[in-house]
Amino acid sequence: MKFLRLLLLFVFVQVNAQQGGMWIPSLLKGMNENEMKNLGMKITAEQIYSINKSSLKDAVPQFDGGCTAEVISDKGLILTNHHCGFDAIQNHSSVDHDYLTNGFWAYKMEDELPNKGMVVTFVIRIEDVTTKVMEGVAAISAEVDKQKKIQENISNLTKTLPKEAWQENSIRTFYDGNQYLLFVTETYKDIRLVGAPPSSIGKFGSDTDNWVWPRHTGDFSMFRIYADKNNRPAEYSADNVPYKPKYFFPISIKGVKENDFTMVMGYPGRTQEYLPSYAVDQIVNTLNPAKIEVRDAALKVQDGFMRKDNAIKIQYASKYAGVANYWKKWIGETKGLKKSNAIGVKQKFEKDFLEKVNKAGKQSEYGSLLSDFEKNYNDIKDYALARDLFTEIALRNTEILTLGYKLYQLEQIYNNKGEQSFNDRRNTLINGLGDFYKDFNPAVDQKVFEQLIGIYVKRYPKPFLPSFFENVNPEVLANDVFTKSQLVTYDKIKVLLTGDSKTVLENINKDNGFKVIKAMADGYLKNVAPRYDEINLKNIATQRTYMKAILELSPKSARIFPDANSTLRVTYGKVKGYKPNDGVIYEPFTYLDGVMEKYIPGDYEFDVPKKLIDLYNTKDYGMYGSNGKMPLAFIATNHTTGGNSGSPALDANGNLIGLNFDRVWEGTMSDIYYSPEICRNIMVDLRYVLFIVDKFAGAQNLIKEMKIITAEKKK
Ligand code: ARG
Ligand code: ASP
Repeated sequence: MKFLRLLLLFVFVQVNAQQGGMWIPSLLKGMNENEMKNLGMKITAEQIYSINKSSLKDAVPQFDGGCTAEVISDKGLILTNHHCGFDAIQNHSSVDHDYLTNGFWAYKMEDELPNKGMVVTFVIRIEDVTTKVMEGVAAISAEVDKQKKIQENISNLTKTLPKEAWQENSIRTFYDGNQYLLFVTETYKDIRLVGAPPSSIGKFGSDTDNWVWPRHTGDFSMFRIYADKNNRPAEYSADNVPYKPKYFFPISIKGVKENDFTMVMGYPGRTQEYLPSYAVDQIVNTLNPAKIEVRDAALKVQDGFMRKDNAIKIQYASKYAGVANYWKKWIGETKGLKKSNAIGVKQKFEKDFLEKVNKAGKQSEYGSLLSDFEKNYNDIKDYALARDLFTEIALRNTEILTLGYKLYQLEQIYNNKGEQSFNDRRNTLINGLGDFYKDFNPAVDQKVFEQLIGIYVKRYPKPFLPSFFENVNPEVLANDVFTKSQLVTYDKIKVLLTGDSKTVLENINKDNGFKVIKAMADGYLKNVAPRYDEINLKNIATQRTYMKAILELSPKSARIFPDANSTLRVTYGKVKGYKPNDGVIYEPFTYLDGVMEKYIPGDYEFDVPKKLIDLYNTKDYGMYGSNGKMPLAFIATNHTTGGNSGSPALDANGNLIGLNFDRVWEGTMSDIYYSPEICRNIMVDLRYVLFIVDKFAGAQNLIKEMKIITAEKKK
């Protein structure tokens, strides 16, 4: 009995401890291969990343800078999320061809739609260049100069390290400046839209369901990479041909079970897993609440208008979704950090850390790191709060102030660089503003302005509040700005920006809207930014040494992964449900049935296309169904973050089974503290993707390109 308990405990620790982390593909062999195999992986590290043979990494490009995609045919067909292709789909849409509402499918290659500026980037190889980057740095004493030297080295190496003419070099830092890796990449520039489901499938559940499990979103779209005749990157040309990949993923429709091994490859953007407790405390108790309060107010105003007026709904839909995405994330993150006692966990880690420092006799090197952090984070608190409030209020959420800030920069450009630069910037500014005003509604923004200036006056640390805002009444100020400022319409701002630099600068300085942003920006740049930067630089240096110490003092077996930095990573775990709250258990799978449960006819988030309802009613799932049901999404313990959207989820054999697109609400804290108990990534089941392409859209031309692995026939 006792033995059994011990054995169970051992199994539990095995399964639960070894999860989380975003690992470097070129280092899996030494660091992770055994663990991955223990978790059930049946392929080798060499099959995932190799520079000699084609490997899985050759099928995982970064998609258009911010997302991930995967190659799924030998004709360069790629799969990513609907929300990653959203802008492209929107750009091709008009009243006559509303692809957002109705979906888009190219039934022949000639029908595929080019996307100006869209790129995908493949990693060719990864090399450690730490020694080269650090050359001559140790001899320098001041932190600022060290950083300068590092930047100089990086820029020289980027230019001189060997690569082919059509490739790029880029060097990125890992472990907070303790390691530098070179990435040699190839960037394809002719990417065409192949298919997208209607938003009622691709964005089903919209903001209400965003960051939430159980989920029923078919969040996918398809593109194709085109290359020149030599299969090399080329700008768009009608003569380009479909790209022949080094590798593409077979798709398995055999289905997954709870506890099956799964891994995700992709380009996670940013995590901060090694912050000290003081920093996490600041995020939980000061910075997140402030940012949430600002966005909460802005979103409430916009939502009120959007619900009453369809034109405003269209104008603000994309902006609203963008703002709401991180608003909702920060709320989940804050809750999760509190509930999991992340600060307490960090404090315990820090206590152990200090003991290790003492044991190793490294007091003089590492003994003061934590007290340095404590002091730095204390010192920076008000500056950091002011910075976040300024950014959220002026630069992100009050449109007229964001626009005003562009004029503020125009003035700075004149002051620093003179007339010619002023003219260039003015012209690009005017040209770019058409798009801004198309989706700008002054009535909405006036209310946002009033609310957010109210928060600014109340929450901005008093010593830094510009005198302009003493005794200001936000409602009166808003009214004054929106009746008098020239920034309110495109026609007026064009007039305002006409003339020589002297006239323009004189006139904008008389503008009531400009005066507001100028007071905010001047105050920020004079009273906040310099000191913030100064303390922040200390924190960066302390963090680098702290990271070095953690790496040095941890046992060899410790799983210490570098924070995300938008480079290619591998994360792995198991398909698994979780317990969000006392008395509640979430299963790891959802089905099409759930779409019908959530269905609200005519609703902008939960409407369902008639054809999908018909397919559900007739259970016409073809080979994609399972036991009479249509699998839709699933969750697992893969450690992902923003940028992992569109990432391939693979089974133990490296076959494609899912398409990553989100995380669960209770686990959004994983950017700061990953807990295998509640952190889960959300994937669309590839069976649902294929069902939509095949049965819903009738695009068998695409299905035929793919390599589909079906369940073995039982004899
Ligand atoms: N939360 C997901 C991610 O961070 C999906 C965002 C897109 N969906 C939305 N409703 N805004 O990208
Ligand atoms: N939805 C995110 C993305 O777009 C993924 C995540 O944050 O989990 O990358």
